[in-house]
Amino acid sequence: MKGKDIELNDQHFSKLCNLVYKHTGIALTEAKRELVKRRFSPRIRELGLRGFSEYCDLIDHKGGSELTLFTNAITTNLTSFFRESHHFDYLKNEILPNFYRKHGHRKLRIWSAGCSTGEEVYSIAISLREALLDIDRWDIKILATDIDTDILHQANRGIYEAKRLEAFPSDWISKWFKKGRGANAGRYQAKQSLKDLIYFQHLNLIEPWPIRNKFDVIFCRNVIIYFDFDTKKKLVERFHKVQNDGDYLFLGHSENLHNTHIAYELIGKSMYVKGKAGC
Ligand SMILES: C[S@@+](CC[C@H](N)C(=O)[O-])C[C@H]1O[C@@H](n2cnc3c(N)ncnc32)[C@H](O)[C@@H]1O
Repeated sequence: MKGKDIELNDQHFSKLCNLVYKHTGIALTEAKRELVKRRFSPRIRELGLRGFSEYCDLIDHKGGSELTLFTNAITTNLTSFFRESHHFDYLKNEILPNFYRKHGHRKLRIWSAGCSTGEEVYSIAISLREALLDIDRWDIKILATDIDTDILHQANRGIYEAKRLEAFPSDWISKWFKKGRGANAGRYQAKQSLKDLIYFQHLNLIEPWPIRNKFDVIFCRNVIIYFDFDTKKKLVERFHKVQNDGDYLFLGHSENLHNTHIAYELIGKSMYVKGKAGC
């Protein structure tokens, strides 16, 4: 079967879309047919299956590690350091300087939901270290979660090709990253001072969350764009429950809460604060 095109007919495509939706919340459209074919074909060959029909049956009935590979194969992990930089500016210039006055304590909880390979969560950690000169007096935890186990592992390692950081000045890079050696020559690794603020956890946003605390800021950017309206609404209702009035929710540049009627107020470009009348 190697090299041969594996046929993906309407019936199997629709079955795969249903499986992806059921397990990830990601709503695939017809436009993604070729992508689906490209992403799953290597695994079908590897398993020696006869085609998409057998593969769908396997996912449907086996679950377990095959399901993990299945979900890992369908996610889109595009990200970058300080992507949509206005969110980090707002964190540094508005949220952090006013935090103690607003709350009367220095316990800060942030969630990067759909953290991909970690650039977002390290950008948050750098922003905190740059803005809070008295950071040792703070109790800070940044939760970084993703459904994709492979990219979460990469995020945890925090090792990046030099080109991922080429937009930044070299003294800034050496402040926050260690130069890789040996097998990692030409790469950079996030310093321990950043890692100490972060804990990584595998989490599927559409399944139950083992989360008890509230989050002052949630970054869920460029994730709900892959969800349909109902999945997005349910997810944001759950975010609402793990935040207090006045807490912040940051979405991606093309995402919004239009017509969800959830009590978040738009306060800037893709930035919301919990509490005021629904959108
Ligand atoms: C395009 S990346 C966005 C990364 C980062 N937030 C940013 O804006 O640069 C989307 C991420 O959402 C994750 N994702 C998709 N569906 C998910 C789900 N049901 N639960 C948790 N993470 C999910 C993907 O694995 C992927 O890493």
